[in-house]
Amino acid sequence: MTDHPTDSKDRLIFALDVPDRESAMRTVKLLDGTVGMFKVGLELFVREGPQILQAIRDHTSSKIFLDLKLHDIPATVARAVRSACAHPVHFLTVHAAGGLPMMQEAAQAAAQASELNLLAVTVLTSMSEADLASERGTGMGSLVLARAELARQAGCTGIVCSGQEVAAVKQQCGDSILTVVPGVRPAEGAVAEDDQRRTATPAQAITDGADYLVVGRPIRDAKDPRGAAQKIVEEIESARRNIV
Ligand code: C5P
Repeated sequence: MTDHPTDSKDRLIFALDVPDRESAMRTVKLLDGTVGMFKVGLELFVREGPQILQAIRDHTSSKIFLDLKLHDIPATVARAVRSACAHPVHFLTVHAAGGLPMMQEAAQAAAQASELNLLAVTVLTSMSEADLASERGTGMGSLVLARAELARQAGCTGIVCSGQEVAAVKQQCGDSILTVVPGVRPAEGAVAEDDQRRTATPAQAITDGADYLVVGRPIRDAKDPRGAAQKIVEEIESARRNIV
């Protein structure tokens, strides 16, 4: 099921990278109405468990993205995806590095829940070309494209890649696959000790074909998080106007 967002606000996914339920609920209330989706990652999920998903659902009409980046043998991942189907989750991630059979079984399990869509992480946006070369001696662009193609074959709804590869992924896969782009850095508002290596501005990522942008610290650590989120939505809106 491919679900292309129509509203600029719906394209913005906020990474709810906070330590506990109290700060999560405070942030959800603060940003409610300014972002399309809240992404729950390992920090919050490991601390609070699946109950945090329902707690978020009870406080906002925005969708929920469960970013667990599953990576294990196919049967184990498929069973974890089946467990996730019981929760109010719109997107769930697996690592494309787990291979085609793993993604296929995961996609089949996801298909049992009407709301759950599987995304495959191609290569983490924190990996640089040099990190990759020292690990496997291959180029970033070709590895991302190879994993995106496998994710498409496996029946995943979309893939996660950086803004630096999204144009090539769209060119290869077209609109048959959603593209979700983290490592998004607005021109102003640098992140202290940033671990992201393959970054793009919101405008660049949207112009290159990103369907969704994932933004965490540039919103979370801003003096005015709501204002920072609204500014990104405006940047998405103006980039979209320039495409048409
Ligand atoms: O704070 P920042 O904007 O870097 O947050 C990016 C979010 O996207 C984090 O929650 C991170 O776990 C997630 N992510 C990523 N790279 C991927 C997949 C997910 O940074 N390839």
